[in-house]
This record gives sequence, C-alpha cells and structure tokens, in this order.
Amino acid sequence: MKFDISEYQNTIYHDPQRYDDQYWWKKNDIEFWKTIYHKNKGNKILELGSGTGRLAIPLIKEGSEYTGLEISQEFCEYTKKRLQGYSTTYNIINQDFRNFNLHMKFDMIFIAFNTFLHLLTNSDASAFLQSVKQHMNKNTLLYIDIFVPNLLFLYRAKKRIKNLEYIDSQTNETIYIDEVCDYNRTNEINKITWIYYSKDKLKELKYNFTMRMYFPNTMNRLIIDSGLQISNLWGDYDLSSFNESSQLQIYECKL
Ligand SMILES: C[S@@+](CC[C@H](N)C(=O)[O-])C[C@H]1O[C@@H](n2cnc3c(N)ncnc32)[C@H](O)[C@@H]1O
Repeated sequence: MKFDISEYQNTIYHDPQRYDDQYWWKKNDIEFWKTIYHKNKGNKILELGSGTGRLAIPLIKEGSEYTGLEISQEFCEYTKKRLQGYSTTYNIINQDFRNFNLHMKFDMIFIAFNTFLHLLTNSDASAFLQSVKQHMNKNTLLYIDIFVPNLLFLYRAKKRIKNLEYIDSQTNETIYIDEVCDYNRTNEINKITWIYYSKDKLKELKYNFTMRMYFPNTMNRLIIDSGLQISNLWGDYDLSSFNESSQLQIYECKL
C-alpha cells in the first residue's frame, strides 16, 4: 500500500523555530559529521533533508561547500536566513529528495538523523538511491544514519508515553511531547502521533507523521540492489563497528 506523504509527513516540519527548540539536545552527531567530512577528499557536500541547518552550520565552519536539499519551504527560508553572513559558498534547495537531479556531482552526500526513515516504501528508497547515484563520481561517499528499530518498543500497545520536553523560545514555557505509536508489521510503517502540551494542559496540539522502520537486512538489500557497495557499517557515532546490540546503523557507501 502506498502512503501519500502529504497525509502524515510534514506536519512536524512546518515550524523551524519549534524544530530547533525541541531538538536542542541533538548534538551527539556533530563531531561525527565533522570527522566524516575531513575523512573525505574534496569539500563539495550535499545533505538530503537538511532541515533547519543544524548540521549545515558546523560543516560550513569546517570549510565545506555545502548544499542542502529540503522539502519544507519554511525550513529552507529559515536556514537561508541563518546562513547569511557565512562567507563560504552554500546553497539551500527546496526540493523532494525522492526524485531529484541537481546536474552536478558531490564529494560527499549524506542523510542524517533518521531522515532516511521518511522514505516510506522500498520503491521510494530505491528511487532516492538512484537519484543519489547520479550525483556521485567514483570517489564520492554516501552516508546514511538511522536508528535500528526496536521490536519490543514497536510491538507494545498503543500507549501514550512521555517523549520529549523543551522550552519554547518564544514564550519561555516548558512544552511536553507525548507519543503514541501504531506500528504495522506488514508494511513496517509506524504511524506516530505527537501530542504537545504545557503544564496546565489547557490546550493540546496533535501532529501525525509516519516513519518506515528499516531493519539492517532490508537496508543491506536495498543498497546492494541499487548498485552501490557498502564500504563501512558503524553502530555508533564513535565509528565502532555495527553489531547486534548497536542502536544505530550508519552506512558508508560507494559506487
Ligand atoms: C529528522 S529531520 C532532520 C533535519 C536535519 N538533517 C537535522 O539533522 O537536523 C528530517 C528532515 O527531512 C525533511 N524531509 C522529509 N522528507 C523529505 C523529502 N521527501 N525530501 C526532502 N526533504 C525531506 C524534513 O522536512 C525534515 O526537515
């Protein structure tokens, strides 16, 4: 069954300030991406699903020639404003990564922080990988960083559980996010509801979105079938090898 991405997907990606507020804690991958950037020859890099520029800023500061491709127009505009004043060349492009052609090659291409999970079907993932390949030359490396699905967590009843809390930078209020998951084991799609509320619980805001759960064997097959080779598979941002207790699967691929 094919899901219409507009049905669930982008509701959480309309308000860039809220995205930055709620992911204030996501810093543990920054050193990893800097290391990976320096490991690569050349400085022309492409981030797919570049969000609000969370990784663009540190990578531009490292000297990269950065291109970000992002489906949310609001996020693109916000990122462009944030990047004003950086002297290095950068480019933010408002496009869908499921099928894109920028007519140029990059030295490094990456999709960070579970963004690959927005590719809901095998055919979307394959189309994505084919698009990526058109932007690679023989030395380009592609990186995919996603979590390993946790079956115990996915098979639990559709219970409302606490997920995140953050300070809203506009109002200074503490906002809580609870989560309800509805996982379909046939198509491996997790329908997620996030419920936002403040302490007084006077108003709740609900957002629905979907994520595909990609298990390592599926990733392996999709990557190999696309004609790419896996040159490294890490299980964490410290570049430790992937093993059965790893919580992350980080792929390095080449043509
Ligand atoms: C989890 S966020 C990650 C953002 C950023 N890479 C980061 O690490 O903070 C996923 C991003 O992918 C974008 N996205 C989702 N589907 C997309 C698509 N089909 N094409 C381009 N961007 C997409 C979302 O709008 C969102 O900004």
